[in-house]
Amino acid sequence: MKLKGPTTTWTLFSSTEIPLSLQISKREMEIKISVSSISLFLLFLMLHFHQMQCGVTYDRKAIIINGQRRILISGSIHYPRSTPEMWEGLIKKAKDGGLDVIQTYVFWNGHEPSPGNYNFEGRYDLVRFVKTVQKAGMYVHLRVGPYACAEWNFGGFPVWLKYVPGISFRTDNEPFKMAMQGFTQKIVDLMKSEGLYESQGGPIILSQIENEYGPLSNVLGPPGHAYMTWAAKMAVGMDTGVPWVMCKEDDAPDPVINTCNGFYCDAFDPNKPYKPAMWTEAWSGWFTEFGGTIHKRPVQDLAFGVARFIQKGGSFVNYYMYHGGTNFGRTAGGPFITTSYDYDAPIDEYGLIRQPKYGHLKELHRAIKLCEPALVAADPIVTSLGTYQQSHVFSSASGGCAAFLANYNPNDIARVMFNNMHYSLPPWSISILPDCRNVVFNTAKVGVQTSQMQMSVGNVQSLSWETYDEDVSALEDNSMITSVGLLEQVNITRDTSDYLWYMTSVEISSSEAFLRGGERPTLIVQSAGHALHVFINGQLSGSTYGSREDRRFVHTSKVNLRAGANRIALLSVAMGLPNVGAHFESWSTGVLGPVALHGLNEGKRDLTWQKWSYQVGLKGEAMNLESPNGIASVEWMQASLAVQKQQPLTWYKAYFDAPGGDEPLALDMGSMGKGQVWINGQSIGRYWSAVANGMCNECSYAGTYRAPKCQTGCGQPTQRWYHVPRSWVQPNRNLLVVFEEIGGDASGISLAKRSVSTVCSDVSEWHPMIKNWHIESYGKSEEIHRPKVHLRCAPGQSISAIKFASFGTPSGTCGNFQQGACHSQNSYSVLEKRCIGQQRCAVTIAMSNFGGDPCPNVLKRVAVEAVCTSTTQPNP
Ligand code: GAL
Repeated sequence: MKLKGPTTTWTLFSSTEIPLSLQISKREMEIKISVSSISLFLLFLMLHFHQMQCGVTYDRKAIIINGQRRILISGSIHYPRSTPEMWEGLIKKAKDGGLDVIQTYVFWNGHEPSPGNYNFEGRYDLVRFVKTVQKAGMYVHLRVGPYACAEWNFGGFPVWLKYVPGISFRTDNEPFKMAMQGFTQKIVDLMKSEGLYESQGGPIILSQIENEYGPLSNVLGPPGHAYMTWAAKMAVGMDTGVPWVMCKEDDAPDPVINTCNGFYCDAFDPNKPYKPAMWTEAWSGWFTEFGGTIHKRPVQDLAFGVARFIQKGGSFVNYYMYHGGTNFGRTAGGPFITTSYDYDAPIDEYGLIRQPKYGHLKELHRAIKLCEPALVAADPIVTSLGTYQQSHVFSSASGGCAAFLANYNPNDIARVMFNNMHYSLPPWSISILPDCRNVVFNTAKVGVQTSQMQMSVGNVQSLSWETYDEDVSALEDNSMITSVGLLEQVNITRDTSDYLWYMTSVEISSSEAFLRGGERPTLIVQSAGHALHVFINGQLSGSTYGSREDRRFVHTSKVNLRAGANRIALLSVAMGLPNVGAHFESWSTGVLGPVALHGLNEGKRDLTWQKWSYQVGLKGEAMNLESPNGIASVEWMQASLAVQKQQPLTWYKAYFDAPGGDEPLALDMGSMGKGQVWINGQSIGRYWSAVANGMCNECSYAGTYRAPKCQTGCGQPTQRWYHVPRSWVQPNRNLLVVFEEIGGDASGISLAKRSVSTVCSDVSEWHPMIKNWHIESYGKSEEIHRPKVHLRCAPGQSISAIKFASFGTPSGTCGNFQQGACHSQNSYSVLEKRCIGQQRCAVTIAMSNFGGDPCPNVLKRVAVEAVCTSTTQPNP
């Protein structure tokens, strides 16, 4: 069937029609071996032509690749948030986790740092990234944007774009549309030239234009709508041979598919009956901001959300993020997004598997894949099984059947009848039955182990620090920019640095009352953001910070002034440019005033409109003090740290040898205040020991999840550890440079390895009812199906101790299990005997294994916490 959408050219077919690719293969079969070489040649041409034509299409059920509808599980990995050396490992873990697709944005500001100057090197080597995914046998969803959002600096837009005459971002504006089309074309051409679209035999099966434009389009009205339709048409016109999507854009015109983003998407329907239901951002956790808490999303709820979407008929789910990674350098958006973009994703910031999230989702994916033939063939038949319970059954014409049994009640377990069988459904959970009979997975039953990670410092190298004082005394004299009044920060810095100095002089008469014991004057500075350090006559007099929610703030401090001329130097700090919000490109940063001194004889003196001098960036930045080539440009001082502690505006340098092994590395910056850190000239990112403020409570997986629900880390620095990619260090003499704004204790900085410290397993014995069903349905010995405790340390580690073991009624979670009223005395010895010295072990939960029943007629469980220790050589 050919659909006549406004711009549709793709061939779509219903479930009863045979796709072109299948017709060809039928015809191929009829070709006899005796065909002449001419017909063989024709056949070759035909197949070749077919390959060129087939590409990727879709229908109401799913994305269709090579004639096959597919249920696709995807995960976001943003290439510049890790290093090229990490990509292969991350992608392999994603594949092993049951993913088919890797999704990424394309980061314009990384690729075109100045107009027409392109960068596709290193972490920005997009082609290498896409080819790495291809090599792993996976697909790519390329979100060209070019607007990304993504908690990325300026939402992915280059800052120079703001200064294109007459420009207005993301609306019906010619200069913007021209630039956007130029960059989109650049990326599409690059992908085409490397043969990377599926239509060319490459891995890219989908693309995205714009990002979550719907909410903005509603605000902007007709120009918004005009821009959105232009963007869709422009993208489709690029003829990639694969579909384009627009996420959160209800009006996406044909043939562009509108898709859903959110914590849940089961209420979502595409805007046309012939488009598949796709979930482009299933939020696996949430991002972190300095001064905020860490957000965790329980995997039981994430799995529930995904199963709920699939049972409704959804056929594409992308975890945002699957690996969040790191906002290296000054790439964090903002303001105040942390350097870590861990996101509580299934693969942690460091590239290590996060359990049980990773493993539980892997099992979910396996269960979904078992259902795939039925899922793509049919629409679900929905039946009520109780007030809060439903079954969704998919039956294919060929006799396949898959069922999803859901209990939406967040509080109570439900016992339901389905196909004349009893099923027990934990609260807020979905059971998956790929044959409509046997439960292979329940979203709330986590069978895989939990692992806890540690940062181990190993042999502490005491670093020999040297310092350089970012001298503020002569700043004003060297200033190249002066003006009457206050200037917007990004207009001056063009975001080449976080820092802009605002400097002025204040003449104080010797007759001022405060000079004779009166109250000191107060300086009041209104700032448009994001942070401010106030220096009076070279001394730090106070600092004030905005927040992500409100970047603007008023700084108020009592100041020490003397008779005569006083120098006021305001160091305004940008902490990542905004990445979201209507026309965020026009939001101001910096000290816009008013600035006034209160408490003088004359009352208030307004400084706003006097002469101000400006200095972009730090002296140390201008001299490249962070890089191995730049460090020689100044005289460093041997730091006697006891004296130097808490000194603002200080550069620190030290050399260190890399710890042995291949575990990921992290810097402990918890003893420092706020600033930036580099290793061998590579920027690790911004650091700040701002303490997390929020509501940290125990949280249940059950019930609707929102980002404030499961917070951790209250009262501690939001981010203490900073990822140092292994490929950025050499064995010896690595240069570590720190710029500290407010003061810290550099002797507290250390480098640690990240590894699995303990693994836990917490598995319930079978409820007698479940046991009977299992035996009934499999007709095999009960022993084979009894649940087991599995423990597995990372490669290169083995189990050195059993920290906790209880067969009985233990309580608590990994890291703080406690014995309950019922406890088998043999618990420790059984686990120790089986597991110590092993990398992995398993113990079946059976009374016979524990030498008897510690409490008959009570449903028991086994909870274990085992210590993993490295079996490789310690540090050299
Ligand atoms: C979405 C957006 C993503 C990211 C996410 C929050 O709305 O599309 O790019 O910003 O929110 O992490």
